[in-house]
Amino acid sequence: MSSGRLEGKVAVITGGTSGIGRAGVIRFAQEGARVVVGSRDRAAGDALVRELAGQGPEVTHVPTDVARAEDAARLVEAAVGRHGRLDILWSNAGVQEAGTAPETSEEIWERVIGVNLTGHFHMAKFAIPVMTRQGGGAIIFTASELGLVGASSSLAYCAAKGGVVNMTRAMAIDCAPAAIRVNCLCPGAIRTPMLERWFREAPDPALLERRQTEPIPLGRLGRPEEIAAAAVFLASDESSYMTGAIQLVDGGVTTGYGI
Ligand SMILES: NC(=O)c1ccc[n+]([C@@H]2O[C@H](COP(=O)([O-])OP(=O)(O)OC[C@H]3O[C@@H](n4cnc5c(N)ncnc54)[C@H](OP(=O)(O)O)[C@@H]3O)[C@@H](O)[C@H]2O)c1
Repeated sequence: MSSGRLEGKVAVITGGTSGIGRAGVIRFAQEGARVVVGSRDRAAGDALVRELAGQGPEVTHVPTDVARAEDAARLVEAAVGRHGRLDILWSNAGVQEAGTAPETSEEIWERVIGVNLTGHFHMAKFAIPVMTRQGGGAIIFTASELGLVGASSSLAYCAAKGGVVNMTRAMAIDCAPAAIRVNCLCPGAIRTPMLERWFREAPDPALLERRQTEPIPLGRLGRPEEIAAAAVFLASDESSYMTGAIQLVDGGVTTGYGI
């Protein structure tokens, strides 16, 4: 039997109960990793653990709000306490809120930056010392195509994702001497509960979905499994010479003007 690409590794995945993160938990476990999932909703975490029980390496869930430093610390401690090490951090949790600058309340700004930027900082802050002690590791952040280009009415989201992109580069430099690779995934439009919600809330959901899909050279929305596949590559030793990389997985949508 061939061994998985993440055989024997221990991974923490935040936002692993839905969409992209959920596809990642399933794929990482199939590749041989023991996965500790962090997200807020305990019931969703318990349901995922029950669903995957007995199908491969152990998957556990720790209720976590990545915007809270103490929760992020507890998630890393839980992984190390249970498995004795931490090889991979896929910091993926995120929230989406629409709005221009005048429309964005202080509260929404704080929430989006708190989860989508500070949350990644928290997770890395507590994972890096563990990985340094054990001689290396791999960190992956989920940013977005909207970390590289702007979009209308997505001000806080774009600001946070742009921050994650450049945090990746700075952290990659800091972590290289400890053999910790830090890379970033920039998904395009991926069909997940987050995207479905955004479509649903539009005055004309079908029109928004068509407008979103038309400029994508590959002609369709992405699937969560296609982001998980890229994450497996960045988490595995196959990407051993990659750090500080900003990896687009967007069906080509940021290549041009759609003409
Ligand atoms: N879907 C897309 O088109 C797309 C495109 C580009 C980038 N992304 C990025 O990809 C990532 C995953 O998105 P998705 O589309 O898979 O979204 P999703 O289906 O809404 O899933 C989001 C996940 O994050 C968790 N989460 C939210 N806030 C959290 C917090 N404060 N602490 C811990 N966990 C939290 C959620 O669980 P709880 O609510 O239980 O905490 C859930 O598991 C996000 O960073 C998103 O910005 C998505």
